[in-house]
Amino acid sequence: MNWGMKNRLSQLIQPDGHCFFLPIDHGYFQGPTTCLERPGETIKPLLPYCDALFVTRGVLRSAVDPAKTKPVILRVSGGASVIGKDLANESITTSIEEIIRLNASAVGISIFVGSDYEHESLTNLSALVNICEDYSIPVMAVTAVGKELEKRNARYLALCCRIAAELGARVVKTYWCEDFDRVTNGCPVPVVMAGGPKCETELEVFEFVYDGMQKGAVGINLGRNIWQNPNPVAMIRSLRSIIHENCTPEEANDLFNSLKDDE
Ligand code: 5RP
Repeated sequence: MNWGMKNRLSQLIQPDGHCFFLPIDHGYFQGPTTCLERPGETIKPLLPYCDALFVTRGVLRSAVDPAKTKPVILRVSGGASVIGKDLANESITTSIEEIIRLNASAVGISIFVGSDYEHESLTNLSALVNICEDYSIPVMAVTAVGKELEKRNARYLALCCRIAAELGARVVKTYWCEDFDRVTNGCPVPVVMAGGPKCETELEVFEFVYDGMQKGAVGINLGRNIWQNPNPVAMIRSLRSIIHENCTPEEANDLFNSLKDDE
């Protein structure tokens, strides 16, 4: 791996080998998502506790202060919406010149394995890898399931992650599932967990994040379970204690309860 690629990856994955990405890209297909209507305001108190932001160029340019940010993973796929025919029908949205101009540390693109647009999304990933590798910019593949949340099982996610890695993704983002080690064991590049819709309790979130970390994930890319929580700062700090301080779910939950009244 060359110096530029190593340098960019080390902006994302910290010296302990773990990472905490904060995604605020949801609007690219679902519009002004709850608690993300004003993304600049949402992230202000949260930024100190994450390692990188996952964001589109539009929100980055309009809502993120270039002098006070964290490394950026630029979401560069899109072209579908929640009210359109098929969420899987995405293209690459952002040129390499724009990616470089915005000083992205990495880029992210969704793949939709098993969908009607499987081939297009996988060849989009390959094309993006071809361009970005020329400039030592890591590509993070996002194994998306569209509206079919029931697809989040180890057999399917292991298949998606392995295909993404084979096509050249430097990092893969996927959902946590039971038997998560089946996913990480079959994937030769670092695996990061997404959160999905907001869970009923904080402890539920701490438990799946902890389980995934024990089973080989390098970190998280968690959005709604943080910024849709009534106590987002307590939530992000407690999650950080699992990722970077090896806390247990119970310890994280105690920390959450002690911090939440300060917000
Ligand atoms: C949405 C994404 C998000 O980055 C990803 O789903 C993580 O966010 P959440 O924890 O809210 O699911 O790729 O397009």
